[in-house]
Amino acid sequence: MSLVYPRRLALASLPTPLEPLRRWSFDNPHAPRIWVKRDDLTGSLLSGNKVRKLEFIAAAALDSGCDTLITSGGVQSNHCRATAAVAARLGLKVHLLLRGDDEDIPDGNLLLDLLFGAEVTCFPKRNFSDRLNDRYDQLQRQYSDAGHKAMCVPIGASNGIGIWGYLSAWDELMQDFERLGISPDHVVTATGSGGTQAGLTLGVALNGNSSRVWGINVCDDEAYFRNKIAEDIAEWAALYPNNRVPENVDVNVIEGYVGKGYGHATPELLRFIQAMATCEGLILDPVYTGKACYGLFKEIEKGRFDEADDIVFVHTGGVFGLYPYREQFARLQRLVDTEVAAE
Ligand SMILES: Cc1ncc(COP(=O)(O)O)c(C=O)c1O
Repeated sequence: MSLVYPRRLALASLPTPLEPLRRWSFDNPHAPRIWVKRDDLTGSLLSGNKVRKLEFIAAAALDSGCDTLITSGGVQSNHCRATAAVAARLGLKVHLLLRGDDEDIPDGNLLLDLLFGAEVTCFPKRNFSDRLNDRYDQLQRQYSDAGHKAMCVPIGASNGIGIWGYLSAWDELMQDFERLGISPDHVVTATGSGGTQAGLTLGVALNGNSSRVWGINVCDDEAYFRNKIAEDIAEWAALYPNNRVPENVDVNVIEGYVGKGYGHATPELLRFIQAMATCEGLILDPVYTGKACYGLFKEIEKGRFDEADDIVFVHTGGVFGLYPYREQFARLQRLVDTEVAAE
């Protein structure tokens, strides 16, 4: 694939490792081998999937003379924290429009946002998405009136520029596959704003590779992601007309793992996260990677991947989002202690 890349900044620690999930899958002769693409290791504070997208978005912001980034997400958004970290590193201002209540004692990602010097405005969850574009416009005008130039970065940095992050990650994965002598049948990721899945899906489509990319949605539904991924790819095609646009793009979404909603974690999910940490030394988060990895395991049990030899799980980060769940984990531990005492 000879793509004409736009400028990118070197912000992430790349390439990330592709590691076997050894105890669970390699020691089980009946299970497909699972490999984990460790994008939780893209950096210590810039960790996770967003930094790959921000390498391209921040370059575009600087190239268009912006000195400010405005973006949005939940109060515990990993994307907002990564954007705040990038802005601090580049000497840009950053303003975050956050969905949900401000925390009296900031925790996890919000604590880091504030340490990075982000300007933070919180809004009620109700009708947040409906009003977001107006809020972006209003704030951008405010910065302009004050003599600044702000770029509005969409939720999750998922757009026609951000898609380059995982389009180039697909290139990296193909090099991993070659080095390890594997050709995985499936690549599975959490999908939240669609950009990670969109980039990988586009990468496969452009390369004619036989792997299938699956997004396990942690919010919204299949129809939403089909539409969002098509939109991101269409925007990419319009912005970068020197690149070939694939005729067929195969978008695969696995539904059924959102539970009671975005950010809601069941005791079963928390137990799974604990088991993965104990058995594999792998930390997953309750909002994205925990749900997606749990979904992958359940789908293997149900037989969806019966024919597969090798499956890649893209670990998209999210560790700081784990800390605000400390009470739920403590409750879980008390339950375990009570059960052990009763035996
Ligand atoms: C840790 C983590 N994993 C996965 C995702 C989903 O990625 P995307 O927004 O590209 O769908 C996000 C953000 O939404 C995230 O923060």
